Amino acid sequence: MASLTLLLLAFLLSTNTFAAEEMEEEELLALFEVMGSLLDYPDWPQAHPFPCTDTPWPGVKCEICQAPPVFHVTQIHIGPDILDPPCKISANLSHALLNLPYLKSLSIFSCFTASPAALFPALFQSLSYLEHLALQSNPALSGVIPSSLGNAASLRVLSLSQNSLNGEIPQAIGGLVHLQQLDLSYNNLSGEVPQTIGGLKSLSILDLSWNALKGQLPSSLGNLQLLQKLDLGSNKLQGKISQKLGMLKKLVLLDLSHNFINGPIPESFGGFEHLEYLILDHNPLNAAVPLFLGSLEKLTSVSLSECGIEGPIPTSLTSLKTLTALSLANNNLSGPIPPELGELPNLDLLNLSHNQLSGELSFPNEFMNKLGKRLDLRGNYGLCSSQRRNFSVHSDEPPYCLNGARNESEKQERTEDYKSIQPAWNQWEDNSCSSTNLSWDKDLMLVFCAFVVAVVLCSVLLE
Ligand SMILES: *[C@@H]1O[C@H](CO)[C@@H](O)[C@H](O)[C@H]1NC(C)=O
Ligand SMILES: *[C@@H]1O[C@H](CO)[C@@H](O)[C@H](O)[C@H]1NC(C)=O
Ligand SMILES: *[C@@H]1O[C@H](CO)[C@@H](O)[C@H](O)[C@H]1NC(C)=O
Ligand SMILES: *[C@@H]1O[C@H](CO)[C@@H](O)[C@H](O)[C@H]1NC(C)=O
Ligand SMILES: *[C@@H]1O[C@H](CO)[C@@H](O)[C@H](O)[C@H]1NC(C)=O
Ligand SMILES: *[C@@H]1O[C@H](CO)[C@@H](O)[C@H](O)[C@H]1NC(C)=O
Repeated sequence: MASLTLLLLAFLLSTNTFAAEEMEEEELLALFEVMGSLLDYPDWPQAHPFPCTDTPWPGVKCEICQAPPVFHVTQIHIGPDILDPPCKISANLSHALLNLPYLKSLSIFSCFTASPAALFPALFQSLSYLEHLALQSNPALSGVIPSSLGNAASLRVLSLSQNSLNGEIPQAIGGLVHLQQLDLSYNNLSGEVPQTIGGLKSLSILDLSWNALKGQLPSSLGNLQLLQKLDLGSNKLQGKISQKLGMLKKLVLLDLSHNFINGPIPESFGGFEHLEYLILDHNPLNAAVPLFLGSLEKLTSVSLSECGIEGPIPTSLTSLKTLTALSLANNNLSGPIPPELGELPNLDLLNLSHNQLSGELSFPNEFMNKLGKRLDLRGNYGLCSSQRRNFSVHSDEPPYCLNGARNESEKQERTEDYKSIQPAWNQWEDNSCSSTNLSWDKDLMLVFCAFVVAVVLCSVLLE
């Protein structure tokens, strides 16, 4: 009992001690220096002499560490949510950060906007507790990502999105085995995606979109078994997609759009049972719509526009009950539009514009009315409708309505025709499949004959 009382007393005494001392002087001075290098607020030290206790500031958090029991700065956050504008014009990333060795989280948003700032190698070597590093939307943060990055072994979240970083993604990144989220999007990173990326075994989010990355997708991506979001869109990636990517069984989003990736889409993608977003538009896939898409039951959004896709729209797509958006525009799809697409309960955008689809369109009116302008069927000259059509309302290029599909040479003639004879189209629009018995040539003949008769009549009358 006595020893317990003694222990309690010792604890109370020690609490008192550090309440008075607050934190170690070296760390406090380092914090003042860091704030001075970022904020347009020279009196910060005077206003916050005890930043961990009596005079807190919303962007700084501290924790007590035992032995010796003093406060340490563990979080620094700077951004427009704390003060606006958040930083001074000459803001830079200060080396004084290295004297805040207990930092777990450092986030700086929209701060380095004017004078050039850079990541420095020691940042990743010295902060051994750093779990969360987010330097985002800093247009003046440029230069390379130091390869010392591989030493920041505690990192769980690394976001360097929307800066002006360039150079290559360091090979050493593969050492960050605890990393769960990696976002390097919207920079100017070049070179290839390193094979070592397959070492990031804990990764659930990988976003490298909007850079200048080239080369093939590394097959080691298939090792990232926990990956839920993979976004490599808007780069210069090329070559075929490795079958191994199909091993990413937990994927919810896959975006490889706006690259130079070739098809076909691997059969192994048929195992993406959680996939909701498949965004592959603007790639020279030059393949058919894969049949297995129809078996990916969770799909809500599919975009394969401008992929050089040929062949029919597989009817298997009509079993995707959760589908909300389907874009297959600017391809070479041919054949009919499966009418069952119009029965998908959640479909809210259907873009099949600029293909070679043909045949009679038979969507229910409710579907046409629900989608309105989000039903885009422009530029399919072989399509026709047996009803007065609503889908053409927004169209600058009225759809073609004929008896069934036409052959290539006739189609081209007609394309020329209606570009030069715009007004006539208003009448054409009201035609239906069953009422277009007269061919265009016969119509023209009729008009011509009427004109000749009128001229002859007039000249007779005038005489
Ligand atoms: C900002 O810091 C980086 C890295 O420490 C340094 O290279 C650069 O010269 C600094 N820029 C200014 C304007 O001080
Ligand atoms: C991106 O980097 C390339 C060279 O790698 C350079 O030519 C280009 O100007 C850079 N773009 C931007 C927006 O910084
Ligand atoms: C469609 O195919 C033709 C010939 O096969 C090709 O010339 C054309 O570029 C293709 N169109 C698209 C949009 O891929
Ligand atoms: C359909 O796709 C084309 C080509 O990508 C695009 O220009 C058009 O705006 C899209 N239509 C709709 C309704 O989204
Ligand atoms: C066409 O759409 C308008 C509203 O956009 C609707 O009032 C009209 O009933 C539709 N016509 C047909 C034939 O579906
Ligand atoms: C396509 O139409 C043209 C003009 O009407 C015709 O001469 C030609 O025989 C048709 N070709 C085919 C394959 O039907």
